Amino acid sequence: MLSSSFSLTPLSLFPKPKLKPPTSPHFIKSSLPQSPPPDPKPTEIPKFKSWVSPNWLTSLSQTLNFNQDDSGIPIASAQLEDVSELLGGALFLPLFKWMNSYGPVYRLAAGPRNFVVVSDPTIAKHVLRNYGTKYAKGLVAEVSEFLFGSGFAIAEGSLWTARRRAVVPSLHKKYLSVIVERVFCKCSERMVEKLKANAANGSAVNMEAVFSQLTLDVIGLSVFNYNFDALKTDSPVIDAVKALCKIIPRQIKAEKAVEVIRETVEELIAQCKAIVEAEGEKIDDEEYVNDADPSILRFLLASREEVSSIQLRDDLLSMLVAGHETTGSVLTWTAYLLSKDPSSLSKAKEEVDKVLQGRLPSYEDTKELKYLTRCIVESLRLYPHPPVLLRRAQVADILPGNYKVNPGQDIMISVYNIHHSSQVWERAEEFIPERFIPFSGGPRKCVGDQFALLEAIVALAILLQNMDFELVPDQDITMTTGATIHTTNGLYMRLKERTKEPEFATL
Ligand code: HEM
Repeated sequence: MLSSSFSLTPLSLFPKPKLKPPTSPHFIKSSLPQSPPPDPKPTEIPKFKSWVSPNWLTSLSQTLNFNQDDSGIPIASAQLEDVSELLGGALFLPLFKWMNSYGPVYRLAAGPRNFVVVSDPTIAKHVLRNYGTKYAKGLVAEVSEFLFGSGFAIAEGSLWTARRRAVVPSLHKKYLSVIVERVFCKCSERMVEKLKANAANGSAVNMEAVFSQLTLDVIGLSVFNYNFDALKTDSPVIDAVKALCKIIPRQIKAEKAVEVIRETVEELIAQCKAIVEAEGEKIDDEEYVNDADPSILRFLLASREEVSSIQLRDDLLSMLVAGHETTGSVLTWTAYLLSKDPSSLSKAKEEVDKVLQGRLPSYEDTKELKYLTRCIVESLRLYPHPPVLLRRAQVADILPGNYKVNPGQDIMISVYNIHHSSQVWERAEEFIPERFIPFSGGPRKCVGDQFALLEAIVALAILLQNMDFELVPDQDITMTTGATIHTTNGLYMRLKERTKEPEFATL
């Protein structure tokens, strides 16, 4: 757990259960039948239509397994159009369609593998909370090992426990407050400077690209005191990080990109180690921050934990990858939702003006930017990153609702489905900035949740404080997935510098 006392509503993937039936228009519930456990409808096995159609695959796996399947889990039938969608990159969209046909738990055959897809908060909670006893990361760890190596984002068992325990204390409250001022504010100001130039010449800006540059600069400085300077320049290292966000493991390009990034991080570790050794630095306080270099790398080296340079490199890479694209995406979609909802946008702007009175946000100010925080949180509900979480059963288990899973079963938790389900949320598709947030749950929940929220609050506050923005009309804004939900073609906006009217100065 983070030692931070940042006092937002406790963050969790799962809305807190209410004690009595809610009267609020936006209440949340489990989508499982209350009682008795479901008696699943026998799944109709579709007739083969074509040998090239994926129906063929689903039908085959259904025919082979159907008679022995006593799991109670209906089998979804994949249509060709769904698979084109999968190939196009937005996996979570067909998952949503199937949820509407098959309910909150269904089995999806995908080649030799099959996944139990979960779209219910109670079952998701069960799977995530039982990490380490009944469930492991499984497939996600296997496919991303090429990138994370033994980094703690994918490590399992005692290695994960030890490394998570070593890294989490580095994200303490004092670190976060120093980083707000020295990194989040500075980088966001640089972003605004860049946008002012676009505003002056009237050019449309792809805000998704700008937010991605911003969050890369932020994570580089915060994690290893390295300035990518992505807002201003391009470099082979930046290209390598960009490439990693788009490519698939085992591609040659991926191997090259990983090599470039690993080398850079190894050099940074070596340099930092030399300084720490030369200065005989050792942390003397839980909230230790080195004034010249407040980075997580410096904290970890000064903590004198026994750890190899390779392990440290992989842990830091875990933070770089997990913290860059996610926060870029949340900024993109929050800006998009605000630009589509003028009343929320002006409410957020008013709050920023009133709380900040024209100055840069401090750590304490972020607690007062409550409405802006809710906008970010609600954007994470509509566009959760990543939209699906994977786990693998290590032992036989019975899921809430009485669904059986066997050891080795891959489970796909569709956070996107849970957040869009009309069984779970009222007015599920609407942007209503008063709801909860997904940073996963259980022992593997995000370690950077406070960091990411603070970063997003600061970046948006500084943007709103300085710029007016609107969507370039007639754009087709569609979704695709990497590790997070991206736009397919960018998010183009036109910006205008705000005139600083002292409207709230006397309030
Ligand atoms: C809005 C931005 C972010 C979102 C939505 C997000 C979301 C998540 C989620 C859902 C997980 C859990 C995955 C799972 O259960 O399988 C996770 C894990 C993780 N996140 Fe974040 N994250 C964000 C920002 C960050 C930042 C800024 C950092 C680093 C400073 C970070 C570091 C990590 C790490 C290291 C893990 C792996 C933890 C473990 O496996 O023990 N994240 N994140």
